[in-house]
Amino acid sequence: MLTEAIVVTGGAGFIGSNFVNAWVRLNQGKVVNLDKLTYAGNLENLADISQDPEHVFIHADIGDRAAVKALLETHHPRAIVNFAAESHVDRSIYGPDAFIQTNVVGTFNLLEEVRAYWQALPLDEQSSFRFLHVSTDEVYGSLGPNDPAFKETNPYQPNSPYSASKAASDHLVRAYHHTYGLPTLTTNCSNNYGPYHFPEKLIPLVIHNALSGKPLPIYGNGSNVRDWLYVEDHCSAIRQVLATGQPGETYNVGGWNEKTNLDVVHTLCDILDQERPKAQGSYRDQITFVKDRPGHDLRYAIDASKIEQELGWKPQETFETGIRKTVRWYLENPEWVAHVTSGEYQNWLSKNYQKRGEELA
Ligand code: NAD
Ligand code: DAU
Repeated sequence: MLTEAIVVTGGAGFIGSNFVNAWVRLNQGKVVNLDKLTYAGNLENLADISQDPEHVFIHADIGDRAAVKALLETHHPRAIVNFAAESHVDRSIYGPDAFIQTNVVGTFNLLEEVRAYWQALPLDEQSSFRFLHVSTDEVYGSLGPNDPAFKETNPYQPNSPYSASKAASDHLVRAYHHTYGLPTLTTNCSNNYGPYHFPEKLIPLVIHNALSGKPLPIYGNGSNVRDWLYVEDHCSAIRQVLATGQPGETYNVGGWNEKTNLDVVHTLCDILDQERPKAQGSYRDQITFVKDRPGHDLRYAIDASKIEQELGWKPQETFETGIRKTVRWYLENPEWVAHVTSGEYQNWLSKNYQKRGEELA
Protein backbone atom coordinates (compact mmCIF):
# COMPACT_ATOMS: atom_id res chain seq x y z
CA MET A 1 0.00 0.00 0.00
CA LEU A 2 1.22 3.48 -0.83
CA THR A 3 2.01 5.63 2.19
CA GLU A 4 1.70 9.42 2.40
CA ALA A 5 5.51 9.66 2.15
CA ILE A 6 7.25 11.29 -0.78
CA VAL A 7 10.84 10.77 -1.93
CA VAL A 8 12.92 13.79 -2.80
CA THR A 9 16.26 13.32 -4.58
CA GLY A 10 18.94 16.01 -4.32
CA GLY A 11 17.29 17.39 -1.20
CA ALA A 12 20.58 18.53 0.35
CA GLY A 13 21.27 20.98 -2.49
CA PHE A 14 20.05 24.54 -2.96
CA ILE A 15 16.48 24.12 -4.24
CA GLY A 16 15.96 20.61 -2.86
CA SER A 17 16.80 21.68 0.71
CA ASN A 18 14.49 24.69 0.47
CA PHE A 19 11.78 22.31 -0.76
CA VAL A 20 12.34 19.72 1.97
CA ASN A 21 12.51 22.35 4.74
CA ALA A 22 9.24 23.90 3.52
CA TRP A 23 7.59 20.47 3.17
CA VAL A 24 8.28 19.67 6.83
CA ARG A 25 7.44 23.21 8.00
CA LEU A 26 4.07 22.99 6.20
CA ASN A 27 3.28 19.55 7.71
CA GLN A 28 2.95 17.86 4.32
CA GLY A 29 3.89 14.42 5.69
CA LYS A 30 7.01 12.29 5.64
CA VAL A 31 9.81 13.14 3.21
CA VAL A 32 12.56 10.65 2.40
CA ASN A 33 15.55 12.59 1.12
CA LEU A 34 18.07 10.72 -1.07
CA ASP A 35 21.25 12.66 -1.84
CA LYS A 36 24.77 11.72 -2.92
CA LEU A 37 26.24 14.72 -1.06
CA THR A 38 28.44 15.96 -3.88
CA TYR A 39 30.28 19.26 -3.36
CA ALA A 40 26.85 20.91 -3.82
CA GLY A 41 25.01 18.83 -1.22
CA ASN A 42 25.26 19.98 2.37
CA LEU A 43 23.58 18.56 5.45
CA GLU A 44 23.88 21.96 7.13
CA ASN A 45 21.07 23.06 4.79
CA LEU A 46 18.85 20.59 6.66
CA ALA A 47 19.98 21.45 10.20
CA ASP A 48 16.55 22.80 11.20
CA ILE A 49 14.88 19.44 10.51
CA SER A 50 17.72 17.07 11.43
CA GLN A 51 15.79 15.79 14.49
CA ASP A 52 12.36 15.82 12.86
CA PRO A 53 10.83 12.33 12.50
CA GLU A 54 9.08 13.48 9.27
CA HIS A 55 12.48 13.79 7.53
CA VAL A 56 14.55 10.71 6.69
CA PHE A 57 17.94 11.23 5.04
CA ILE A 58 19.53 8.55 2.85
CA HIS A 59 23.06 9.00 1.55
CA ALA A 60 22.99 7.45 -1.95
CA ASP A 61 23.30 8.05 -5.68
CA ILE A 62 20.16 8.18 -7.86
CA GLY A 63 22.03 5.82 -10.18
CA ASP A 64 22.46 3.20 -7.43
CA ARG A 65 19.64 0.85 -8.40
CA ALA A 66 19.90 -1.32 -5.29
CA ALA A 67 19.70 1.70 -2.96
CA VAL A 68 16.72 3.15 -4.84
CA LYS A 69 14.94 -0.22 -4.88
CA ALA A 70 15.45 -0.69 -1.14
CA LEU A 71 14.19 2.81 -0.42
CA LEU A 72 11.04 2.29 -2.49
CA GLU A 73 10.34 -1.07 -0.83
CA THR A 74 10.89 0.33 2.65
CA HIS A 75 8.92 3.57 2.38
CA HIS A 76 6.24 2.91 -0.30
CA PRO A 77 6.13 6.55 -1.42
CA ARG A 78 3.18 8.05 -3.27
CA ALA A 79 5.48 10.34 -5.28
CA ILE A 80 9.08 11.06 -6.28
CA VAL A 81 10.39 14.58 -6.81
CA ASN A 82 13.68 14.45 -8.70
CA PHE A 83 15.96 17.43 -8.03
CA ALA A 84 19.25 15.49 -8.07
CA ALA A 85 21.56 16.80 -10.77
CA GLU A 86 24.86 18.40 -11.55
CA SER A 87 23.64 21.97 -11.95
CA HIS A 88 26.45 24.42 -12.77
CA VAL A 89 26.91 25.41 -16.43
CA ASP A 90 30.59 26.45 -16.03
CA ARG A 91 31.48 23.12 -14.39
CA SER A 92 29.78 21.32 -17.29
CA ILE A 93 32.11 23.14 -19.67
CA TYR A 94 35.24 22.02 -17.77
CA GLY A 95 34.02 18.49 -17.02
CA PRO A 96 30.87 17.22 -18.73
CA ASP A 97 31.29 13.57 -17.59
CA ALA A 98 29.58 13.95 -14.23
CA PHE A 99 26.67 15.70 -15.96
CA ILE A 100 26.06 12.80 -18.32
CA GLN A 101 26.52 10.31 -15.50
CA THR A 102 24.07 11.87 -13.05
CA ASN A 103 21.65 13.85 -15.20
CA VAL A 104 21.26 11.29 -17.98
CA VAL A 105 22.37 7.85 -16.75
CA GLY A 106 21.33 8.54 -13.15
CA THR A 107 17.86 9.72 -14.18
CA PHE A 108 17.53 6.67 -16.42
CA ASN A 109 18.41 4.29 -13.56
CA LEU A 110 16.04 6.10 -11.23
CA LEU A 111 13.24 5.87 -13.80
CA GLU A 112 13.86 2.16 -14.28
CA GLU A 113 13.58 1.39 -10.56
CA VAL A 114 10.53 3.64 -10.21
CA ARG A 115 8.90 1.96 -13.20
CA ALA A 116 9.39 -1.50 -11.67
CA TYR A 117 7.96 -0.27 -8.35
CA TRP A 118 5.04 1.49 -10.03
CA GLN A 119 4.15 -1.44 -12.31
CA ALA A 120 3.78 -3.68 -9.27
CA LEU A 121 1.20 -1.37 -7.64
CA PRO A 122 -2.55 -2.06 -7.80
CA LEU A 123 -4.25 -0.07 -10.60
CA ASP A 124 -5.84 2.61 -8.40
CA GLU A 125 -2.46 3.30 -6.78
CA GLN A 126 -0.76 3.37 -10.17
CA SER A 127 -3.02 6.20 -11.24
CA SER A 128 -2.49 8.30 -8.11
CA PHE A 129 1.33 7.87 -8.11
CA ARG A 130 3.47 10.76 -9.46
CA PHE A 131 7.06 11.17 -10.72
CA LEU A 132 7.88 14.88 -10.82
CA HIS A 133 11.06 15.80 -12.67
CA VAL A 134 12.57 19.20 -11.90
CA SER A 135 14.11 20.74 -14.99
CA THR A 136 15.26 24.05 -16.34
CA ASP A 137 14.42 26.71 -18.91
CA GLU A 138 17.91 26.24 -20.40
CA VAL A 139 16.69 23.25 -22.43
CA TYR A 140 14.95 25.71 -24.77
CA GLY A 141 18.24 27.37 -25.77
CA SER A 142 18.78 31.10 -26.05
CA LEU A 143 16.37 33.92 -26.98
CA GLY A 144 17.10 37.03 -29.03
CA PRO A 145 16.37 40.40 -27.40
CA ASN A 146 12.84 40.67 -28.85
CA ASP A 147 11.78 37.01 -28.97
CA PRO A 148 8.70 35.98 -27.01
CA ALA A 149 9.38 34.15 -23.74
CA PHE A 150 9.70 30.34 -23.70
CA LYS A 151 6.42 28.43 -23.82
CA GLU A 152 6.07 24.69 -23.12
CA THR A 153 5.70 24.18 -26.88
CA ASN A 154 9.10 25.73 -27.75
CA PRO A 155 11.52 23.27 -29.38
CA TYR A 156 14.41 21.99 -27.28
CA GLN A 157 17.70 23.63 -28.36
CA PRO A 158 20.17 23.12 -25.49
CA ASN A 159 23.55 24.81 -25.89
CA SER A 160 25.74 23.67 -22.97
CA PRO A 161 26.67 20.18 -21.78
CA TYR A 162 24.56 20.96 -18.69
CA SER A 163 21.43 21.94 -20.62
CA ALA A 164 21.92 19.07 -23.10
CA SER A 165 22.08 16.61 -20.20
CA LYS A 166 18.92 18.10 -18.66
CA ALA A 167 17.18 17.97 -22.05
CA ALA A 168 18.12 14.30 -22.37
CA SER A 169 16.64 13.57 -18.94
CA ASP A 170 13.45 15.45 -19.82
CA HIS A 171 13.11 13.32 -22.96
CA LEU A 172 13.53 10.12 -20.94
CA VAL A 173 10.84 11.23 -18.52
CA ARG A 174 8.53 12.07 -21.42
CA ALA A 175 9.19 8.65 -22.99
CA TYR A 176 8.42 6.80 -19.74
CA HIS A 177 5.01 8.46 -19.71
CA HIS A 178 4.24 7.79 -23.37
CA THR A 179 5.62 4.26 -23.49
CA TYR A 180 4.83 2.84 -20.08
CA GLY A 181 2.15 5.23 -18.80
CA LEU A 182 4.23 6.30 -15.77
CA PRO A 183 2.36 9.38 -14.38
CA THR A 184 5.13 11.93 -14.86
CA LEU A 185 5.18 15.71 -14.46
CA THR A 186 8.01 17.98 -15.60
CA THR A 187 8.69 21.54 -14.48
CA ASN A 188 11.02 23.84 -16.44
CA CYS A 189 12.00 26.71 -14.20
CA SER A 190 14.03 29.89 -14.69
CA ASN A 191 16.99 31.01 -12.53
CA ASN A 192 16.40 30.64 -8.81
CA TYR A 193 17.95 32.65 -5.98
CA GLY A 194 17.61 32.66 -2.18
CA PRO A 195 19.00 30.99 0.97
CA TYR A 196 21.45 28.05 0.69
CA HIS A 197 22.48 28.98 -2.87
CA PHE A 198 26.02 27.70 -3.41
CA PRO A 199 28.42 30.61 -4.07
CA GLU A 200 29.63 29.29 -7.43
CA LYS A 201 26.44 30.85 -8.95
CA LEU A 202 26.22 34.55 -9.81
CA ILE A 203 24.10 35.98 -6.97
CA PRO A 204 25.71 34.27 -3.94
CA LEU A 205 29.18 34.60 -5.52
CA VAL A 206 28.76 38.35 -5.87
CA ILE A 207 27.45 38.76 -2.30
CA HIS A 208 30.32 36.67 -0.91
CA ASN A 209 33.02 38.38 -2.98
CA ALA A 210 31.66 41.85 -2.22
CA LEU A 211 31.86 41.20 1.52
CA SER A 212 35.34 39.65 1.17
CA GLY A 213 36.66 42.70 -0.74
CA LYS A 214 37.26 40.62 -3.89
CA PRO A 215 36.46 41.46 -7.54
CA LEU A 216 32.88 40.91 -8.73
CA PRO A 217 33.46 39.05 -12.02
CA ILE A 218 30.97 39.77 -14.82
CA TYR A 219 31.26 37.58 -17.89
CA GLY A 220 31.46 39.51 -21.18
CA ASN A 221 29.77 42.90 -21.00
CA GLY A 222 27.04 41.95 -18.50
CA SER A 223 24.17 42.29 -20.99
CA ASN A 224 23.06 38.63 -20.82
CA VAL A 225 19.54 38.34 -19.45
CA ARG A 226 18.21 35.85 -16.90
CA ASP A 227 14.67 35.55 -15.51
CA TRP A 228 14.86 35.35 -11.70
CA LEU A 229 12.53 33.53 -9.30
CA TYR A 230 12.80 33.42 -5.50
CA VAL A 231 13.47 29.79 -4.52
CA GLU A 232 10.44 29.48 -2.21
CA ASP A 233 8.21 30.42 -5.14
CA HIS A 234 9.76 27.61 -7.18
CA CYS A 235 9.03 25.24 -4.27
CA SER A 236 5.39 26.36 -4.09
CA ALA A 237 5.07 25.80 -7.85
CA ILE A 238 6.40 22.25 -7.47
CA ARG A 239 3.93 21.54 -4.66
CA GLN A 240 1.12 22.86 -6.86
CA VAL A 241 2.14 20.78 -9.89
CA LEU A 242 2.50 17.69 -7.69
CA ALA A 243 -0.98 18.20 -6.26
CA THR A 244 -2.93 19.24 -9.36
CA GLY A 245 -0.75 18.89 -12.49
CA GLN A 246 -1.90 16.62 -15.34
CA PRO A 247 0.26 13.50 -15.79
CA GLY A 248 2.36 13.70 -18.95
CA GLU A 249 2.32 17.52 -18.94
CA THR A 250 5.19 19.97 -18.60
CA TYR A 251 4.90 23.31 -16.80
CA ASN A 252 7.13 26.36 -17.23
CA VAL A 253 7.81 28.16 -13.95
CA GLY A 254 8.99 31.76 -13.70
CA GLY A 255 8.25 35.12 -12.16
CA TRP A 256 8.39 37.47 -15.18
CA ASN A 257 11.57 39.04 -13.77
CA GLU A 258 14.03 39.51 -16.63
CA LYS A 259 17.22 41.34 -15.67
CA THR A 260 20.62 41.82 -17.26
CA ASN A 261 23.48 40.44 -15.19
CA LEU A 262 24.84 43.96 -14.79
CA ASP A 263 21.49 45.11 -13.36
CA VAL A 264 21.49 42.20 -10.90
CA VAL A 265 25.03 42.98 -9.73
CA HIS A 266 24.25 46.70 -9.41
CA THR A 267 21.17 45.87 -7.32
CA LEU A 268 23.22 43.61 -5.03
CA CYS A 269 25.88 46.30 -4.58
CA ASP A 270 23.26 48.93 -3.80
CA ILE A 271 21.54 46.75 -1.18
CA LEU A 272 24.90 45.92 0.40
CA ASP A 273 25.81 49.62 0.41
CA GLN A 274 22.68 50.19 2.53
CA GLU A 275 22.84 47.10 4.75
CA ARG A 276 26.61 46.81 5.28
CA PRO A 277 28.24 50.10 4.08
CA LYS A 278 31.97 50.05 3.29
CA ALA A 279 34.30 52.44 5.07
CA GLN A 280 34.85 54.15 1.73
CA GLY A 281 33.13 54.02 -1.66
CA SER A 282 30.59 51.58 -3.05
CA TYR A 283 30.65 47.82 -3.65
CA ARG A 284 30.12 48.77 -7.30
CA ASP A 285 33.82 49.75 -7.33
CA GLN A 286 34.68 46.01 -7.12
CA ILE A 287 32.93 45.14 -10.43
CA THR A 288 35.32 43.61 -13.00
CA PHE A 289 34.51 42.46 -16.53
CA VAL A 290 36.12 39.09 -17.35
CA LYS A 291 36.38 36.70 -20.29
CA ASP A 292 32.97 35.42 -21.36
CA ARG A 293 31.54 31.92 -20.82
CA PRO A 294 31.98 29.84 -24.01
CA GLY A 295 28.62 29.49 -25.79
CA HIS A 296 27.04 31.89 -23.27
CA ASP A 297 23.25 31.96 -23.84
CA LEU A 298 22.15 35.55 -24.38
CA ARG A 299 18.69 35.52 -22.84
CA TYR A 300 16.23 33.27 -21.00
CA ALA A 301 12.65 34.26 -20.28
CA ILE A 302 9.76 32.10 -19.08
CA ASP A 303 6.16 32.45 -20.12
CA ALA A 304 4.41 31.17 -16.99
CA SER A 305 0.84 31.57 -18.32
CA LYS A 306 0.10 27.83 -18.33
CA ILE A 307 0.86 27.15 -14.65
CA GLU A 308 -0.81 30.42 -13.67
CA GLN A 309 -4.00 29.83 -15.65
CA GLU A 310 -4.38 26.05 -15.39
CA LEU A 311 -3.13 25.50 -11.84
CA GLY A 312 -3.69 28.94 -10.29
CA TRP A 313 -0.04 29.30 -9.14
CA LYS A 314 1.47 32.76 -8.58
CA PRO A 315 4.81 33.78 -7.07
CA GLN A 316 4.73 35.62 -3.72
CA GLU A 317 7.95 37.60 -4.07
CA THR A 318 8.91 40.36 -6.49
CA PHE A 319 12.58 40.55 -7.45
CA GLU A 320 12.94 43.58 -5.16
CA THR A 321 11.57 41.82 -2.05
CA GLY A 322 13.26 38.49 -2.79
CA ILE A 323 16.70 39.89 -3.46
CA ARG A 324 16.72 41.95 -0.25
CA LYS A 325 15.67 38.88 1.78
CA THR A 326 18.46 36.94 0.09
CA VAL A 327 21.17 39.51 0.87
CA ARG A 328 20.00 39.63 4.50
CA TRP A 329 20.12 35.83 4.74
CA TYR A 330 23.78 35.84 3.61
CA LEU A 331 24.60 38.63 6.05
CA GLU A 332 22.97 36.67 8.88
CA ASN A 333 24.60 33.32 8.00
CA PRO A 334 28.37 33.92 7.67
CA GLU A 335 29.18 30.48 9.19
CA TRP A 336 27.24 28.67 6.47
CA VAL A 337 29.16 30.62 3.82
CA ALA A 338 32.50 30.02 5.59
CA HIS A 339 31.88 26.26 5.71
CA VAL A 340 30.84 25.86 2.06
CA THR A 341 33.64 28.06 0.74
CA SER A 342 36.43 26.07 2.40
CA GLY A 343 38.06 23.08 0.70
CA GLU A 344 37.06 22.11 -2.82
CA TYR A 345 35.50 25.51 -3.52
CA GLN A 346 38.95 27.14 -3.67
CA ASN A 347 40.08 24.73 -6.43
CA TRP A 348 37.01 25.62 -8.45
CA LEU A 349 37.70 29.36 -8.17
CA SER A 350 41.27 28.90 -9.47
CA LYS A 351 40.09 26.73 -12.34
CA ASN A 352 37.22 28.97 -13.48
CA TYR A 353 38.51 32.48 -12.89
CA GLN A 354 42.28 32.26 -13.52
CA LYS A 355 41.59 31.55 -17.20
CA ARG A 356 39.32 34.60 -17.24
CA GLY A 357 42.14 36.82 -15.98
CA GLU A 358 41.06 36.98 -12.32
CA GLU A 359 42.51 35.31 -9.23
CA LEU A 360 39.60 34.93 -6.83
CA ALA A 361 40.72 32.00 -4.68
P1 NAD B 1 22.48 21.96 -6.58
O1 NAD B 1 23.69 21.72 -7.40
O2 NAD B 1 22.51 23.04 -5.54
O3 NAD B 1 22.06 20.62 -5.81
C1 NAD B 1 22.07 19.36 -6.44
C2 NAD B 1 21.90 18.30 -5.35
O4 NAD B 1 21.87 17.03 -6.00
C3 NAD B 1 23.05 18.25 -4.36
O5 NAD B 1 22.55 18.08 -3.05
C4 NAD B 1 23.85 17.02 -4.79
O6 NAD B 1 24.55 16.41 -3.72
C5 NAD B 1 22.75 16.14 -5.32
N1 NAD B 1 23.24 15.15 -6.32
C6 NAD B 1 24.07 15.38 -7.37
N2 NAD B 1 24.29 14.23 -8.03
C7 NAD B 1 23.58 13.26 -7.40
C8 NAD B 1 23.38 11.89 -7.63
N3 NAD B 1 23.99 11.24 -8.63
N4 NAD B 1 22.56 11.20 -6.80
C9 NAD B 1 21.95 11.83 -5.76
N5 NAD B 1 22.12 13.14 -5.49
C10 NAD B 1 22.91 13.86 -6.31
O7 NAD B 1 21.31 22.19 -7.61
P2 NAD B 1 20.02 23.14 -7.53
O8 NAD B 1 20.38 24.49 -8.01
O9 NAD B 1 19.40 22.96 -6.20
O10 NAD B 1 19.12 22.46 -8.65
C11 NAD B 1 18.25 21.38 -8.33
C12 NAD B 1 17.53 20.95 -9.59
O11 NAD B 1 16.79 22.04 -10.13
C13 NAD B 1 18.46 20.49 -10.71
O12 NAD B 1 17.85 19.39 -11.34
C14 NAD B 1 18.54 21.69 -11.63
O13 NAD B 1 18.77 21.28 -12.96
C15 NAD B 1 17.16 22.27 -11.48
N6 NAD B 1 17.03 23.72 -11.70
C16 NAD B 1 17.87 24.59 -11.06
C17 NAD B 1 17.69 25.97 -11.22
C18 NAD B 1 18.57 26.98 -10.52
O14 NAD B 1 18.46 28.17 -10.80
N7 NAD B 1 19.43 26.57 -9.58
C19 NAD B 1 16.67 26.44 -12.05
C20 NAD B 1 15.85 25.51 -12.71
C21 NAD B 1 16.03 24.16 -12.50
O1 DAU C 1 18.05 29.10 -16.02
C1 DAU C 1 18.08 28.12 -15.04
C2 DAU C 1 19.51 27.76 -14.72
O2 DAU C 1 20.05 28.84 -13.98
C3 DAU C 1 19.64 26.45 -13.95
O3 DAU C 1 19.19 25.40 -14.77
C4 DAU C 1 21.11 26.21 -13.55
O4 DAU C 1 21.20 25.05 -12.76
C5 DAU C 1 21.58 27.41 -12.76
O5 DAU C 1 22.94 27.25 -12.43
C6 DAU C 1 21.39 28.70 -13.55
O6 DAU C 1 22.27 28.74 -14.71
P1 DAU C 1 23.02 30.09 -15.14
O7 DAU C 1 24.19 29.74 -15.94
O8 DAU C 1 22.06 31.08 -15.70
O9 DAU C 1 23.44 30.64 -13.68
P2 DAU C 1 24.79 31.29 -13.11
O10 DAU C 1 24.47 31.82 -11.75
O11 DAU C 1 25.96 30.42 -13.28
O12 DAU C 1 24.98 32.53 -14.08
C7 DAU C 1 23.97 33.54 -14.19
C8 DAU C 1 24.45 34.54 -15.22
O13 DAU C 1 25.58 35.25 -14.66
C9 DAU C 1 24.94 33.91 -16.50
O14 DAU C 1 24.59 34.75 -17.59
C10 DAU C 1 26.47 33.86 -16.34
C11 DAU C 1 26.75 35.07 -15.48
N1 DAU C 1 27.91 34.97 -14.55
C12 DAU C 1 28.02 33.88 -13.75
C13 DAU C 1 29.08 33.74 -12.88
C14 DAU C 1 29.22 32.52 -12.01
C15 DAU C 1 28.82 36.00 -14.48
O15 DAU C 1 28.69 37.01 -15.19
N2 DAU C 1 29.87 35.88 -13.62
C16 DAU C 1 30.05 34.78 -12.82
O16 DAU C 1 31.06 34.72 -12.07
